[in-house]
Amino acid sequence: MKKKLIQNTKDHFEKLFQKPAKHIFLSPGRINIIGEHLDYNDGFVLPAAINKYICFAISENKNSECVLVAKDLNDVYTFDINDPLQPIDKMWANYILGVLHQLKERSLKLKGFTLVFSSTIPMGAGLSSSAALECGVAYAMNDLFQLQLSKEEMAKIGQKAEHTFAGVNCGIMDQFASVFGKKNKVIKLDCTTLAYEYHPANFNEYQLVLFDSCVKHTHLTSGYNDRRNEVEQGLAIIKANYPEVTSFRNCTEAMVVALKDTLGEIIFNRCLFVVQEIARVPLAIAALSKGNINQLGELMTKTHYGLSELYEVSCPEMDFLVAEALGEAEVVGARMMGGGFGGCTINVVKKETANSVIQKLTKAYKIKYNIDLKAYKIKIAKGTSTYGI
Ligand code: GLA
Repeated sequence: MKKKLIQNTKDHFEKLFQKPAKHIFLSPGRINIIGEHLDYNDGFVLPAAINKYICFAISENKNSECVLVAKDLNDVYTFDINDPLQPIDKMWANYILGVLHQLKERSLKLKGFTLVFSSTIPMGAGLSSSAALECGVAYAMNDLFQLQLSKEEMAKIGQKAEHTFAGVNCGIMDQFASVFGKKNKVIKLDCTTLAYEYHPANFNEYQLVLFDSCVKHTHLTSGYNDRRNEVEQGLAIIKANYPEVTSFRNCTEAMVVALKDTLGEIIFNRCLFVVQEIARVPLAIAALSKGNINQLGELMTKTHYGLSELYEVSCPEMDFLVAEALGEAEVVGARMMGGGFGGCTINVVKKETANSVIQKLTKAYKIKYNIDLKAYKIKIAKGTSTYGI
């Protein structure tokens, strides 16, 4: 799949511009094992890059003209790098323009280039195709124009591009995972300091399977930004009542419960989810380290119910997929993953039964929603990189 993606992207470049591209880069999508909606809530998260990529074929131009080609969308956008950049009505281009804008804001010197990209990361499926695009462009610009950016800066530039040109006030997890991913490792990331550690992604006799609900997360932008406002309000109330609380990390469940009436039902539910999820992450990491995949799976399932009932970012289709998966004896954990309102569920399934579980769910989903379920047996892969290195 990866080889074919690279070949097709290269070929497309050559067909359009009658010359081979000078550089090839790959930037991966991501999963998150646990720690959902915690990257902007003072938590730890446990993401990893996966073997689904955006491939970039790119060459410098002699002048300041930039040509962007979205192969899969059959769309092109051209502009001059010296002109002021602002969001346009092509969403895919905004992720790229947003990154270039950030680089220019930092007074970094860019020149014209021609870029063709193509992807095996499904779009709008909660696998962070947008972060892969942003980080791939930051990485490519860094390489082409010797910008001397650190990996952390690239991730932050991608995040900022998402805030300013895509309108999603996202945390840092997706971009961090895309840039810092390592083969067969999950990343334990402290979202308050960006300190991180790699942990072996050893799931023993289990396999991670993603079920793509094929519900595109169109409400993500507003829903996501609403959640951020709600938890911000909640934390302000908690701090006002408990001056010792500096962030959600040192706020206990008992404090949240004691403030139930003051917070009001919705904000109470959001804050309760956050403190419970913060508490689950270290337990999940310990379970993974000990090889106790059953326990890890149970924690992931608890996360699902928190996201669905308290944080309210799931949708009926994902709830159905989780319930059906958990009805199978060979599935030890299942939950919705990512920002929510559609996208994928992540499932911990006994390896030898993965195919039969996929078949059963595909059938059940078709009967219930008349949607063809997509299933991905993913592998944990390395982060954004130059192809061949
Ligand atoms: C989206 C955001 C991330 C993170 C997740 C939820 O993917 O881009 O920053 O908040 O949702 O964990």
